[in-house]
Amino acid sequence: MARNRVEILHGANLDMLGRRNPEHYGTFTLAELEVQIKRYAYELELETRFFQTNSEGEFIEYLHRLHELADGAVVNAGAWTHYSYAIRDALESAGVPAVEVHISDVRSREEWRRVSVFDGLVLGVVSGKGAEGYREALEMLKAELEK
Ligand code: DQA
Repeated sequence: MARNRVEILHGANLDMLGRRNPEHYGTFTLAELEVQIKRYAYELELETRFFQTNSEGEFIEYLHRLHELADGAVVNAGAWTHYSYAIRDALESAGVPAVEVHISDVRSREEWRRVSVFDGLVLGVVSGKGAEGYREALEMLKAELEK
């Protein structure tokens, strides 16, 4: 059986991991995080691709192609999570199951981080579990894709 393909999407400022507040984001870089996610995916027999951009338009255009590229998605859209309805609409059009991930615990930070435009659209939200949270997200997607 072919492996399910999962796209790992990172939005604005996630390329700055390793230089962002370690109290919230740890000390790992995006490249190190991606290696870790690849390991999790290998263990779960999932195929992964990675995409990161700081441009909202590019993120949206990538989502427009997502249905051709992946069976499911793990989305950490950074601050766009809290206000970009354009990204929500694009993810909805993509029509693939998605899990929202945040490295930091967005519920215990500023009030504005508690809002997510992906509410009601994603399979689930994993927040505050660092790199480990991506494993949980992959597990959720795997269970959904194997239904
Ligand atoms: C984040 C949380 C967001 O509020 C923030 O804007 C980010 C990263 C996280 O992974 O914890 O850029 O999505």
